[in-house]
Amino acid sequence: MRHLIEPTDLTVEETGAIISLAEDIIADRDKYRDACRGKKLATLFYEPSTRTRLSFTAAMMELGGNVIGFSDAASSSVSKGETVADTVRVISCFADIIAMRHFKEGAPLVASRFAGIPVINAGDGSHAHPTQTLTDLLTIKREKGRLDNFTIGFCGDLKFGRTVHSLIKALSRYEGVRVILIAPDELRLPEYMRREVCDKHGIDYREVSTMEEVMPELDVLYMTRVQKERFLDEEEFNRVKDSFVLDPQKLSAAKKDMIILHPLPRVNEITQAVDADPRAAYFRQVENGKFVRMALILTLLRKAEECPGEEAPAAEPLESHSGIRCTNGRCISSTEDVEPLFRRTDDGACRCAYCERRYEPVR
Ligand code: CP
Repeated sequence: MRHLIEPTDLTVEETGAIISLAEDIIADRDKYRDACRGKKLATLFYEPSTRTRLSFTAAMMELGGNVIGFSDAASSSVSKGETVADTVRVISCFADIIAMRHFKEGAPLVASRFAGIPVINAGDGSHAHPTQTLTDLLTIKREKGRLDNFTIGFCGDLKFGRTVHSLIKALSRYEGVRVILIAPDELRLPEYMRREVCDKHGIDYREVSTMEEVMPELDVLYMTRVQKERFLDEEEFNRVKDSFVLDPQKLSAAKKDMIILHPLPRVNEITQAVDADPRAAYFRQVENGKFVRMALILTLLRKAEECPGEEAPAAEPLESHSGIRCTNGRCISSTEDVEPLFRRTDDGACRCAYCERRYEPVR
């Protein structure tokens, strides 16, 4: 069964096919209006969302299908202690495909192992947000005409920003993408991302502390919100929350055809005065999210029907290690009794398959 848990669960070719399908849907929406007639999408959202949940809902409706689900775990039997595994076993009796958002990292991976229907990760903690990545790739393709040979600056919360982690992983597979990381020390890109994604794939990247010093170089500026909900220490949040604010004055040094992306929601990191600038692509990006989710739903449902036994060709293999328990409090394994699963790193260490925390080799 094919799922989308990490952006790299799709090969570059499969990603390209989903983007092309989304472009075809944009060109002829009528052609797809009955494509999912009789099918049901379950949206299981344990964490707040506006864009992702509603764009999944709109996507399934535009495909002629139906949507069930919850937008608040408190209104489901999760509040009585039901596990992710049991919840998705139940949901799979009612629906054909699941989109899950969860505050615990790895919850969608757990779901994919028990559901028996395709599971889409709609964002898990600080870990991954692969459908935002598809949205971002479609937007870059439509705005810039290509997915290679450009310079992208990621600005803001690069530590907890799951959209940043997922997009960098996806871009590591395209030629000539230069990455500039713009963040305060407290919000640097995690070490595993720098070492095992950027270094491993030979990404040309550098870290800077102001957007002004790199603005003229950028083809894409990817702004992010400093996410209060991810901080365990409010003082630390208060220290960094106003680190970067994009305004028309800073934008005056940018290329005339640079685009500004933001997964949204924003707080104050882009002033409203920027919205009128034609380079502000973040609301166009939102609309692309619906079309690319239509393409993804169609693709996964077709694969489930035509080859239900198929596994993700691009994903790294999982190893079971009963001797190691992940100690990350943000990981689903901290609250649910899940099989301890790991991926092997190139230097022989292990990474928790749910949250990517690193553990040294078992001797
Ligand atoms: N970009 C994004 O994930 O937005 P929501 O949190 O509103 O779904």
